[in-house]
Amino acid sequence: MTLWWSFWWRMVVVAVVFMVFLTNPGRSQPQTNVLIQSCSTVNASSTANFFSNLNETFSDARRQLSNNNTYFAISNQTRNSDPVYVLAQCRNYMSTSDCLGCFDYAASSIRACGAANGARSVLDGCFLRYESNSFNGDTTLPGNQGLCGNRTSSQQSSFQTVVDELLSNISIATPKMNGFYAAVTAPVISTNTSTAYAIAQCVETVTADGCRSCMQVAYANIRSCAADVIDGRAVDSGCFMRYSGTPFFRNNQTTEIASFLLDESSSNKGAIIGGVVGGVGGLIILLVVLLLWYRRSKRTTPGGSLYGATELQGPKDYSYSDLKKATKDFREENKLGEGGFGDVYKGTVKDGNIIAVKKLAIGTAKDNFESEVRVISNVHHRNLIRLLGCCTKGPELLLVLEYMANGSLEKYLYGEKRGSLNWKQRFDIIFGTARGLAYLHEQYHVTIIHRDIKPSNILLDNEFQPKIADFGLARLLPEDQTHISTRFAGTLGYTAPEYAIHGQLSEKVDTYSFGIVVLEIISGKKCTDIPNESAGEQYLLEHAWNLYETRMHLKLVDETLDPTKYKEEDIKKVIEIALMCTQSPVSVRPTMSEVVMLLSDRSRVQNPPSRQNVNLSEIRVEGNNSTSTTKSVSNADVTVTELTGR
Ligand SMILES: *[C@@H]1O[C@H](CO)[C@@H](O)[C@H](O)[C@H]1NC(C)=O
Ligand SMILES: *[C@@H]1O[C@H](CO)[C@@H](O)[C@H](O)[C@H]1NC(C)=O
Ligand SMILES: *[C@@H]1O[C@H](CO)[C@@H](O)[C@H](O)[C@H]1NC(C)=O
Ligand SMILES: *[C@@H]1O[C@H](CO)[C@@H](O)[C@H](O)[C@H]1NC(C)=O
Ligand SMILES: *[C@@H]1O[C@H](CO)[C@@H](O)[C@H](O)[C@H]1NC(C)=O
Ligand SMILES: *[C@@H]1O[C@H](CO)[C@@H](O)[C@H](O)[C@H]1NC(C)=O
Ligand SMILES: *[C@@H]1O[C@H](CO)[C@@H](O)[C@H](O)[C@H]1NC(C)=O
Ligand SMILES: *[C@@H]1O[C@H](CO)[C@@H](O)[C@H](O)[C@H]1NC(C)=O
Repeated sequence: MTLWWSFWWRMVVVAVVFMVFLTNPGRSQPQTNVLIQSCSTVNASSTANFFSNLNETFSDARRQLSNNNTYFAISNQTRNSDPVYVLAQCRNYMSTSDCLGCFDYAASSIRACGAANGARSVLDGCFLRYESNSFNGDTTLPGNQGLCGNRTSSQQSSFQTVVDELLSNISIATPKMNGFYAAVTAPVISTNTSTAYAIAQCVETVTADGCRSCMQVAYANIRSCAADVIDGRAVDSGCFMRYSGTPFFRNNQTTEIASFLLDESSSNKGAIIGGVVGGVGGLIILLVVLLLWYRRSKRTTPGGSLYGATELQGPKDYSYSDLKKATKDFREENKLGEGGFGDVYKGTVKDGNIIAVKKLAIGTAKDNFESEVRVISNVHHRNLIRLLGCCTKGPELLLVLEYMANGSLEKYLYGEKRGSLNWKQRFDIIFGTARGLAYLHEQYHVTIIHRDIKPSNILLDNEFQPKIADFGLARLLPEDQTHISTRFAGTLGYTAPEYAIHGQLSEKVDTYSFGIVVLEIISGKKCTDIPNESAGEQYLLEHAWNLYETRMHLKLVDETLDPTKYKEEDIKKVIEIALMCTQSPVSVRPTMSEVVMLLSDRSRVQNPPSRQNVNLSEIRVEGNNSTSTTKSVSNADVTVTELTGR
């Protein structure tokens, strides 16, 4: 106990660094879904020592996992100034080769933490963590959490009942099993009989008691998911739990747990269920959790209060009065911008950190708000703005976000900084934005469709790397408000026609908007600029297609770009990729991970975009409409009837 505790105390970790690897086989190997990844920001003192230790422990762990039926490995290398302790674990349903594949994926993505002296990566199929101190006793730590998957509107109550019972059963059995692992299935009998799948696993370095207390917390975190989510997970330092209505292991890979339930099934199960809802056990767990939270908050390191550490973290709860003070009572001069979901203010908190505070202008149910905020706050990617926390206790809902000093791309494309970005910077922005979107669509455990990609939602950090803002917020809208036939979130001109007109929502809606933004980045022109038709001008998209058809697409390039600083071939290729993204139907539009691949690949575009795949008249309707409203009509204010009525 004292050991790991003192370890957290000494940890001076302030920010989370994150990176995604382009080669993510996300779709084909869902076991490499990254659930959580974080890095310490304290760097090793000697990187040479550190990397040699890290490499040795990683290859030692990998060697251990390459033995048949080995799912767990620890290793340490402590001979010099920068010791490294590693723990790796695969879920026991993984084959040896899948386990190694997952380990390699986790190891390469954790490399993005550079010389950080601690990091962890939790994937569906495996778990990898290293620290500069031994952490083998860690069981349940503050920041443990349930990660509910996609919400489905009509979850059958029979599914919830079965899942709840399955999870309760495995949380009792797992601490008693050899290897601390259980996998079970159970039929869900209803109109359509289906099967529920669940696993639970503890790291092998904890005691049975440690495993049991971790299971209790995990069970409490995950069971609420089952009400309306088909796929849920709970992640903690010492254990992992997952259920799903779709198979993620084979039917013949279950473990026999009945014999572990017999003796205590009545008493212990009562303790767990009671422990969660109330009762003495529950009180004790609650007290322990509260105590840990309390102690941790007291131990927050200077400057560290805002950011995640390598420990798992949920969103921070801010007090309304602190945020009010930080933003000088939401004074006009502190206003950074007006977004679709509310105004954003700059704030300086007590420890001197600068934050951005978004005052949500949408009504939303509070419990829905809190679970969605949890989902968004777990998104860590270097091309996505971090949600640091929220405040639900004041007169309005507030979100606290990472602050970006350079402001939005809009300013650099056609605002006061127009013409100041060179081609390399523009390409980096295009590439980073594509990666951020690919992460939201395919690599995060919940598919997040942004629905409002436009330059004002792409913020730039000090190195002009892009970070996408406002993702996930559309999820906060009550379901009936986002529903197709009534309203849509999006901005005319950037909105895919099938979404604007028919309300058909898919990830490809973001692909479309991305294509339009790329055309703007290349041309320095706004997609909604009204053409002077008598002078032969056209809307940006139409213009781009016309130039492309006559093989003159380089004419699109912003004249402020220095032609000696880019290769014509490169720009041509990016224009073609952008046009591919604006095609319809959605099946011919690439996914964002395909876009990332195309952008990073040196090869040529295989299926060049085709004019046949774009209905410009449909899009023009949209463009014209936007001129009659205002420059950026956004979110939930525009109804489809207004659009089609034109
Ligand atoms: C750690 O090293 C990285 C580069 O590897 C650097 O960007 C970062 O600022 C360093 N962090 C600290 C706290 O020194
Ligand atoms: C450690 O491994 C990485 C990646 O495999 C490699 O780039 C690096 O050179 C290695 N460092 C040392 C000190 O062995
Ligand atoms: C692991 O099992 C496979 C097939 O069951 C066998 O071919 C292989 O030799 C085994 N490897 C080790 C290291 O035992
Ligand atoms: C470090 O590794 C050595 C040998 O590999 C082992 O004996 C020792 O128990 C390990 N230490 C910890 C704290 O895991
Ligand atoms: C949970 O365990 C009890 C006792 O063994 C068993 O009767 C019940 O069917 C199990 N529930 C599920 C959903 O497997
Ligand atoms: C049952 O399955 C059928 C066909 O697979 C489907 O049409 C129907 O909607 C399903 N019913 C429920 C309640 O899920
Ligand atoms: C489990 O089922 C798979 C196919 O579903 C089969 O290839 C495998 O041999 C089976 N394993 C055992 C131990 O029966
Ligand atoms: C989430 O929902 C989207 C469609 O809205 C679907 O494509 C995706 O596969 C779902 N993700 C998971 C993890 O179930």
